Amino acid sequence: MTEEGNKIKILSIFGTRPEAIKMAPVIRELESRPDVESRVVVTAQHREMLDQVVDTFNIKPDYDLEVMRPGQDLFDVTVSVLKGLKGILEVERPDLILVQGDTTTTFTGALAAFYCQIPVGHIEAGLRTYQKYAPFPEEMNRVLTTRLADIHFAPTDRSRDALLKEGINPGNIFVTGNPVIDALYQALEQPFYLDPEISRAFRDNKRVILLTTHRRENLGAPLQDVYMALREVLFKHPDVAIIFPVHKNPAVRSEVKSVLHGVERVYLTEPLDYLPFINVMKRTYMVLTDSGGIQEEAPALGKPVLVLREVTERPEAAAFGTARLIGTDCRKVEDEVNRLLNDEGAYQEMANAVNPYGDGMAASRIIQAVCCYFGLGPAPADFSPEQ
Ligand code: UD1
Ligand code: UDP
Repeated sequence: MTEEGNKIKILSIFGTRPEAIKMAPVIRELESRPDVESRVVVTAQHREMLDQVVDTFNIKPDYDLEVMRPGQDLFDVTVSVLKGLKGILEVERPDLILVQGDTTTTFTGALAAFYCQIPVGHIEAGLRTYQKYAPFPEEMNRVLTTRLADIHFAPTDRSRDALLKEGINPGNIFVTGNPVIDALYQALEQPFYLDPEISRAFRDNKRVILLTTHRRENLGAPLQDVYMALREVLFKHPDVAIIFPVHKNPAVRSEVKSVLHGVERVYLTEPLDYLPFINVMKRTYMVLTDSGGIQEEAPALGKPVLVLREVTERPEAAAFGTARLIGTDCRKVEDEVNRLLNDEGAYQEMANAVNPYGDGMAASRIIQAVCCYFGLGPAPADFSPEQ
């Protein structure tokens, strides 16, 4: 309650699969608080990939902007989200809006709140590569969201330090861990269904690699290189298979089609629902990805993760030894995958369950920090990973 005894009205905005996964524990926590009135807006920058997460976590959005269009570009999403939020923010007049991460929904949500002079809380603040176009457009989305935000929920000490270097008031930064780990722990407890084709991949092959790719800066030659490398790997290792849930972005799909379609022991699937996906990850030998969220989840499951990017804003897992940044060069990818397949020692060195990104309590810290911001309680203790 505020000093006048009113509830704090918090409006959460998200639009893509990873934002929904990371927001879900926060929304659950908000809904459990008697002193908070929670509202949820989905921009639906993603549609099917968003809806399955919203259903899995039983989130009931109050507003749906229905933004997604096939093959949309950055201008389309930015304009539609901004326009769609105007009326909602004017009617709801929340005390705070929450955005998560680095998508166009994140940045545009923060911008819309700024135009309405509503304070902004940014979950997963302070991740940086310091390279304007890598990842694109996420690095700039994060930087710009930081400028617009009033409360910064940094997942790690490193991200807090990045914010401090940019002159953010230390009193408005809270090191909370990342709610992706809250979501993972909660979801691993739930029953799940595996498609028979996916079960077959595990039954018929000794070692299964989980692959995902979708970064805009990897479209074209970089993805072609990665897929060619993996064809070579499969040729050399008859006991190895690849499960590849292909992102809905048509630009990604056309890349995949030209190199991996019909290749033996490549199991191409639609994006998996979140529960089967994390359970597939739990059963795989290793993970290859350019995803942000998967870089955070795989270490928690003790899965070596090779990161198909030139730079990452998530270097913590590499420091703990479970992740390696390998880029997309064909030869390099092939060598790095072969190394983990051929060298048991190298594999075991990476296959440690570590949690640099969270301990499952991030959502609770975030809400405590919000209350602290409104003068309604003490600051939460910082998250710190077990060494
Ligand atoms: C977006 C985010 C990226 C995030 C990723 C997570 C931006 C600019 N990009 O990238 O930061 O890492 O989501 O997955 O915010 N599509 C569907 N159905 C869906 C989702 C997407 O058909 O459920 C197709 C549509 O044709 C759509 C296209 O994918 O136009 C691209 O979606 P978009 O959200 O613009 O970009 P992503 O590459 O998904
Ligand atoms: N994920 C999923 N099904 C899939 C692939 C990924 O549920 O087929 C989940 C995964 O567990 C992670 C999130 O989606 O939490 C990552 O989303 P994505 O890679 O699309 O975006 P990024 O994290 O790179 O922004």
